[in-house]
Amino acid sequence: MGQLTFHGHACTEIRTADGTRLLIDPWLTDNPLADVGPEGFYDDLDYVLLTHGHFDHTGDAYEILRRSGATLIATFELVSYAQNEEGVENAHPLHIGGGFQFPFGRVQLTPAFHGGQVAGEHGGGYTTFPAGLLMQLDGTSVYHAGDTSLTREFELLRDRVDVALLPIGDNFTMGPSDAVRAVDMIRPGVVIPIHYDTFEVIEQDPEAFREAVGDLAEVVILSPGESYEF
Ligand code: NI
Ligand code: MN
Repeated sequence: MGQLTFHGHACTEIRTADGTRLLIDPWLTDNPLADVGPEGFYDDLDYVLLTHGHFDHTGDAYEILRRSGATLIATFELVSYAQNEEGVENAHPLHIGGGFQFPFGRVQLTPAFHGGQVAGEHGGGYTTFPAGLLMQLDGTSVYHAGDTSLTREFELLRDRVDVALLPIGDNFTMGPSDAVRAVDMIRPGVVIPIHYDTFEVIEQDPEAFREAVGDLAEVVILSPGESYEF
C-alpha cells in the first residue's frame, strides 16, 4: 500500500509500498501552509519530481537534492538548470509525453498549459514547458496535474487515472469550475484539490468544490500534513 501526504500548495510526498520516498514540488520555506520544513527530507529521500520552474514549486528542491543526494525527475531544461546552476548531481530528464520505468514505478510527463519561467539566481537563461506527472505506483495510477489551465489534453487521461491531484485555486491555474470540467473529462476515482488558499488571490472553498464534483468522483480534501492511502 502506498501513502500520499499533502504538505500544502502543490507539495506532495509519496511513500510507495517498497519504501521509496518521492517528493513533488517541494516549496516549504516561506510557504504559509506547509506543515513541515525541508530538513525532514535531507537524510531520507529517493526522488524529487518537479512539474515546472516557478518558485512555488521549486522553492526548496535544489537544497533538498544537494543534501539528500536524491534523484531529480523533471523536464530536460529543469534538469539542465539544476545540474549547471544549482549543484544537483543526480537527475533523470524526461520530456512531455515521455515516460520511464523507474525501480519504484513508471513516470510520464503530460502537457500542462502554464508559464515556462525557471526561477532562480541564474534561471533567466532557462525556460521549460510545464508538465503534469502521470505515475504508475503499486498498481495505482496517480496524476499530479502541476499548474495548468483546463485543456483538452485531459481527455487523453480519461479512465486512466485512479487518484488525481488537481489545482483549484484560479488566478494562476484553473479554478474550481474548470477543475470540475477536468474531473468530468478524466473521470478519476479520487480527486484531491491542491494549489489553493496559499495566497489571497487563490482562496477557495474545497467543500464547495466537492459538492460541485458530486457523483463524478470522490473528493478527498487533505489539510497539510494529512495523508491518503492507495
Ligand atoms: Ni506555476
Ligand atoms: Mn504554482
